[in-house]
Amino acid sequence: MKKTKGIILAGGSGTRMYPMTSLYSKQLIAVYDKPMIYYPLSTLILAGIKEVLIISNEETIPHYKKLFGDGKLLGMKIEYAVQPAPKGIAQAFIIGEKFVGKDNAFLILGDNIFYGYLNFLREAVEKNKTATVFGYYVKDPERYGVVEFDKSGKAISIEEKPKKPKSNFAVPGIYIFDNSCIKRAKGLEPSPRGEVEITDLIKTYLDENKLSVAKIGRGIAWLDSGTPDSLLDASTFIASIEQRQGLKIGCVEEAAYQMGFIDKKGLNNIIDKIPNSYYRNYLEKIVENKE
Ligand code: DAU
Repeated sequence: MKKTKGIILAGGSGTRMYPMTSLYSKQLIAVYDKPMIYYPLSTLILAGIKEVLIISNEETIPHYKKLFGDGKLLGMKIEYAVQPAPKGIAQAFIIGEKFVGKDNAFLILGDNIFYGYLNFLREAVEKNKTATVFGYYVKDPERYGVVEFDKSGKAISIEEKPKKPKSNFAVPGIYIFDNSCIKRAKGLEPSPRGEVEITDLIKTYLDENKLSVAKIGRGIAWLDSGTPDSLLDASTFIASIEQRQGLKIGCVEEAAYQMGFIDKKGLNNIIDKIPNSYYRNYLEKIVENKE
């Protein structure tokens, strides 16, 4: 099986969330008890991805580096790249060309939060031949990329933020592509809003009958964090689950331990570096409980 590398696109202009984002990009803002980027990073880890490129603007990259370094502590390899201006999601593959090399790529948007039994992602990575994206039922599809299915469940069209959506299935910000995504991204013309659109990239696969779209069931929560209200809702959601279960969502250290990226010694090594905090207490409990 070909290796799949991860990319987190975590930049953007941040204008919508001003003044929260006047110092750095929004993926560093807290969603309940941890920076937003912890959630997509843990999603990649749970999908079995060990090598990750974080793309953001120049001001924010040093902050991410401070958070994750070279990733070794997590049993990973984490690299960083600057996107000089937010010129489109598909640009991630052009910026990440060297990093991806000859491998496949799994792109996740830095503001996409998933909760639930995420094994389907690992399976999708293993099964993917050319391109796999997902469809998630929402009440306001016009805010997203929208995928339309025929009666047999096959995807037949995909449109970016259509005024009249052809279905209620939004495409979440997780995309699994073969290596040709780099060449395809390079061949795209910018849209009228001046961005190389992810939806146009997905369309190239659809047109060649190489796209697989998997519906994500209602047992999975896909949360938005793009406006002050949806950010608060996401925090409240995460807090409710964490307080009820006493288990954290988006805890990258726990995910790395669970996936076998690090062993008990590795986790203890991380804990030693964390200041006395609720987060540290939580990780200490994980080590104690899982012999
Ligand atoms: O969340 C899923 C949706 O994400 C998809 O359904 C849409 O098809 C896709 O276009 C995208 O829509 P958004 O309206 O959410 O895209 P936005 O421009 O807000 O960018 C999403 C995230 O990616 C945001 O956190 C900022 C970051 N970003 C975006 C662009 C365009 C970058 O870091 N660089 C960029 O150039």
